[in-house]
Amino acid sequence: MTRREAARLLAGVGAVVAFAGPVRAEAAPVQARVDALLRGLTLQEKIALLHGATDPAAKGAAGYVPGVPRLGIPELRLADGPAGVRGTTQAGGRTAGRATALPAPVALAATFDPDLARRYGAVLGRECRALGMDVILAPMVNIVRVPQAGRNFETLGEDPLLAAALAAAEVRGIQGEGALATVKHYAANNFENERQHVDVRVDERTLREIYLPAFEAAVAAGAGAVMAAYPRVNGRYCAENRHLLTEILRDEWRFAGWVMSDWGGTRSDVPSIEAGLDMEMPSGARFSGLAEAVASGRLAGSVVDRSVRRILLQLDRFGLLSEPLNGPTDGLPGGLTGGLPGGLTGGLTGGLPGGLTGGLSGGPAGRLTGGPAGGGRARPVFDGAAGAVAAREVALAGAVLLRNEGDLLPLLHADLADLAVIGPTAAAPLAGGGGSARVLRSGTESPYAALRRRAGATARVRFATGVDLDGVPVPASALSLTRTRRGGGGPEPVTRVDHTGAGALPAGSSYTWTGTITAPATGDYDLRVQGAGAPPSSGGSITLTVDGTRVGAVEALLGGNSSLIATADGLTNAGAVVRLEGGRPTPLRISATGVAGTPLEVRLAWVTPTRRQEAREAAAALARGAQVAVVFSFDEGTEGADRTSLALPKEQDALIAAVAAANPRTAVVLNTGHPVLMPWLADVPAVLQMWYPGQEGADATAALLLGAACPGGKLPVTFPARAEDAPAATPERYPGVAGTAVYDEGVFVGYRHYDAYGIEPLFPFGHGLSYTRFAYEGLSVRPSGDGLSVTFILANVGRREGVEVAQVYVTPPADPPVPMPPRVLAAFTRVRLAPGERRRVTVTVPGRALRHWGGQGWVLTAGRRAVQVGSSSRDLRLRREVTVR
Ligand code: BGC
Repeated sequence: MTRREAARLLAGVGAVVAFAGPVRAEAAPVQARVDALLRGLTLQEKIALLHGATDPAAKGAAGYVPGVPRLGIPELRLADGPAGVRGTTQAGGRTAGRATALPAPVALAATFDPDLARRYGAVLGRECRALGMDVILAPMVNIVRVPQAGRNFETLGEDPLLAAALAAAEVRGIQGEGALATVKHYAANNFENERQHVDVRVDERTLREIYLPAFEAAVAAGAGAVMAAYPRVNGRYCAENRHLLTEILRDEWRFAGWVMSDWGGTRSDVPSIEAGLDMEMPSGARFSGLAEAVASGRLAGSVVDRSVRRILLQLDRFGLLSEPLNGPTDGLPGGLTGGLPGGLTGGLTGGLPGGLTGGLSGGPAGRLTGGPAGGGRARPVFDGAAGAVAAREVALAGAVLLRNEGDLLPLLHADLADLAVIGPTAAAPLAGGGGSARVLRSGTESPYAALRRRAGATARVRFATGVDLDGVPVPASALSLTRTRRGGGGPEPVTRVDHTGAGALPAGSSYTWTGTITAPATGDYDLRVQGAGAPPSSGGSITLTVDGTRVGAVEALLGGNSSLIATADGLTNAGAVVRLEGGRPTPLRISATGVAGTPLEVRLAWVTPTRRQEAREAAAALARGAQVAVVFSFDEGTEGADRTSLALPKEQDALIAAVAAANPRTAVVLNTGHPVLMPWLADVPAVLQMWYPGQEGADATAALLLGAACPGGKLPVTFPARAEDAPAATPERYPGVAGTAVYDEGVFVGYRHYDAYGIEPLFPFGHGLSYTRFAYEGLSVRPSGDGLSVTFILANVGRREGVEVAQVYVTPPADPPVPMPPRVLAAFTRVRLAPGERRRVTVTVPGRALRHWGGQGWVLTAGRRAVQVGSSSRDLRLRREVTVR
């Protein structure tokens, strides 16, 4: 088919599209348009649409699919997600992107607010399109199963109902701005260790009740794409798992979008596409072989067409198709891209909200931009200010006040006469977690700066790091090194490795330092290699090897051991604690490969045992004289690795204990993405969980500490008192034995586990205090559809405005047909009340919350059941029994 013919055909079928009216009447023309494109595509072109390729323009996309310009099929750019639009230009040191760094999704989960999730999604969607991308690899909805999982910060908590509600809203927000959402990672990808190959053994009921509902809700909300996860589920890799990809996703949920693999997670060609995988990412390592498979008869061409059709349907639905390259314009645009066919979404339940056009500042929906690059839809202008507003609001709303004995918080005016601010993340903000969700912004304010700014000129706010992460350059007295420049002259002796700022090494140069390091006294030395200008994504690297073992690797994403917290002078900081024997020279090697265009900065630093102790003592001394001490604590959650311990890293427990001993009026602010253990809790009156609060997190933190805002977030995950109390705390369950992880704890995940086994958590699911107090009264429950309508009165009985997340739980009948936890979350609502205000609140318990998976489908769990309403899963104030039948 010629371009002209293709254009005419497409224009012809497109012209009959109408934007209102019955679904079926519209679906047909869409199908016809897609059929026409399919007829115009060669087999090679079809296959090229089914896998990733190298992006000719370095825009920072995680994935790229070249389009077929001659037919108006645009190139596609896929960006990470889920905490902002990530660009790979952020790799390696001082560079940062433009996108809004949103609070980590766990903070969003803590808001218990679908409306905020929609707005969070809208920022992702709008910025995705504005920054030249089309598909966002978000939301991530894998349930938090074990507290140490590296990506817990990236997901929406441990409860399927909560995760489902937020995921659906986020998808609507993303797609309302014209970007495609990709719900990931489907399914049962609940920890990082061995994630590429672990075989998750999980029974069907547990899958359906715990691990799948958030995916199902995202699909029902119209998600355009699904990402298959790395692991195997019951023996089959997710990317070739027919049960997940076809039987559940397509046959039951009627998913009409396309399924892509996780990056490098496609394991086969024919078995994968036949099982229901449509697109390999990020390359064509497997799927480029599909052409040969069709040619040799190993694969039916119709299977290829099926996958191409799924992709084209979404491009059509999102108005991304444009006129053929250099093709005639006769009548094409109106039909082809003339708006988002509401009708098409009929099968997708919900589809694209009418709000789509509202968020696009570039003109009416469907207006052509005049070329295939970036698709047919106009891109909105980047609106960083709007992103910042949403980021700040989520950071505020997701903050969880875990403890506040004696109302230490909010701080009083008198407290500001001498406020000690302690901890590295007070000065170097930890805005997000690590891995593909990492979004870096330059110029992000620190909490210490925000506190000083908000406290005003009369306040005295002083800082001590308490835990030294930067150290000092290793002195000449401890080093005996020679330096070799690659491609340069012979080795030359040097006494320091300290090339930063104005002293940086030339851009694109590469050096090796070899020799020995000799400690003055035996002890644990935190050896640090700090640098910039060597992004691994561009072929650069900086590594530190001690005694033959690589202990430090400055890397941007995965695989290195770079801290997420930059040095005070903005360098990436990597390394490890190494035991050095006093006076004994230990072999050391640094290798640095720079890349063109950026000066190479390298420094070898150490934190000596003495320095470590001095930092702690200085912090305690500062706290001792202060009115109040606020200690900022962190962990560094990241993709690619689980935490090895639930304790705060780097002797932070000792620091908090020392500060609390010096000043009983101590508050701890947590910048963690996960539950942590708190051995010091009894001595610390106030704890504020800020998670990784995004680019506006500092101001939000300061506003909450100083009382300009009131915390109202609730824990979306249970905090265990001891590591062994957590669910799945056996090696067979986590991380698995011999490559198999058995999920035989069943549905007893999160609070379901603690409640069923009568384990007292450190902080329960749903917990979160306020600066005001709430009372509950007058519960009534009546049937509503296949669920329940629950009404009660919520009153603010304190003295200031505040927000309460009221939670409704349902208990099983006395003699349940299958093992059931003592209660499950069945509804929730976030209510803002003025002091003294009382409000009648009605929430709906959906029918699904009264059912269990009965093998072939959802079965009503009939019997006498209780509806409990309260402020957390362990603070239930109202109860009423109902008969469910
Ligand atoms: C992650 C995905 C991510 C992809 C692209 C993978 O390693 O698991 O969540 O979207 O990389 O960066």
